[in-house]
Amino acid sequence: MADLIQPVKGMNDVLADQSPWWAKVESVAHALFAGYGYQRVYLPVLERTELFSRSIGELTDIVSKEMFTFDDHGDSLTLRPEGTAGVVRAALSNGLLHNQQQKLWLSGPMFRREKPQKGRYRQFHQMSVEALGFAEPEIDAELIALSARLWRGLGLSSVTLELNTIGTAESRQKYKQVLVEHFSRHRELLDDDSVRRLERNPLRILDSKNPALRELIEAAPLLSSYLDDESRVHFERVQALLGDVGVAYTLNPRLVRGLDYYSRTVFEWVTDRLGAQSAVCSGGRYDGLVAQLGGRDTPAVGWALGIERIVEVMQAESIGAGETSPDAQLVAAGDAERRFGFKLVDELRERVPGVKISLGAPSAGFKAQLRHADKSGARFALIVGESELKAEKVALKPLRDGTPQRLVTVEECVDLLRQTAASA
Ligand code: HAM
Repeated sequence: MADLIQPVKGMNDVLADQSPWWAKVESVAHALFAGYGYQRVYLPVLERTELFSRSIGELTDIVSKEMFTFDDHGDSLTLRPEGTAGVVRAALSNGLLHNQQQKLWLSGPMFRREKPQKGRYRQFHQMSVEALGFAEPEIDAELIALSARLWRGLGLSSVTLELNTIGTAESRQKYKQVLVEHFSRHRELLDDDSVRRLERNPLRILDSKNPALRELIEAAPLLSSYLDDESRVHFERVQALLGDVGVAYTLNPRLVRGLDYYSRTVFEWVTDRLGAQSAVCSGGRYDGLVAQLGGRDTPAVGWALGIERIVEVMQAESIGAGETSPDAQLVAAGDAERRFGFKLVDELRERVPGVKISLGAPSAGFKAQLRHADKSGARFALIVGESELKAEKVALKPLRDGTPQRLVTVEECVDLLRQTAASA
């Protein structure tokens, strides 16, 4: 036998035993996005490498060690590690920001060459919302409230919100100097990564997961002491608005995020159900990014959730994915019965929107078909035997509640299945 071809490390197949959870996350989210006025975009998974190095930042883990980059006849291309840079690039390439605001959402695979573990993959899927051209704190709060509503819609209870502000680039500049002084005084305690960051992006040291640095990080001065007034007012307003609509949060002054484009509000929804990979949804303001990528000064804010992580949390919380069994399954043995049954099922599919019907196992014997229907979890067997065929009717056999079988006309069958499909 020929050798089997192995999948690529950290890239998963999502099969039918998992896909109902994905479908649930997607359907609840899609409805909410539309309700909040976001419009969907579909963007390329390949972009020029420079897009990510200029936006996410050269010194971030993502750009410095996690990108899938290759040379395409002299062009350096990268599989997108996240969606925000691409959304901004697309808005600029297509002239979407000429005196206009945009509320866009994106869903699809992202790629990071991380060490795979539970909740962390090399191909993973994000859904993200991006509001371009909005400066007001209302939009930060609205976006966060949207995510809170999404968790409620999915029935999630183990996620909590961490919130911070990292101010404007200018106020961060002042703070960076103070941080550099603090960490330089203890240079001998820093690891290689932190020494590298000390030179160009000391804020990211605060994000280090190295336990040896914990004390030093805890002793570092806080950005809140260097915050500019406008950012402070903005942040207070975001908090007040979240309070008004009952979204609970914890202030986390050390939350800085692992991408360089953020300014002001940053946040993460975290869970204790996924071990080390605690963030299920993260985002914030990126007021400087559009200009950094060649556009005019345009404030913006957004977030992205990881679908794999949301599904894993749902499962850890024993949240089901909704009914996937068919409403009805055909049971018809004999050539003429099978043809009548085939046509009946086709008519039911046409006339009962959303109904789930299965043809079952047409070539099996009558009893085997009935057993198969029972095993499928279907609510009804639609039985077509000799007498039903003669009468042009169908025997509707409830498989779940023990009520007796009934001989019904096609019209009655349509009505009954409409009720079943409507109550599902
Ligand atoms: P991020 O925090 O890098 O932010 O990723 C967002 C979410 O993607 C995380 O909270 C997590 O749920 C999921 N995620 C990230 N890496 C992995 C991985 N290796 N495996 C599985 N899931 C993962 C961003 O990407 C920003 N673009 C978010 C944003 C949108 N900010 C503003 N707008």
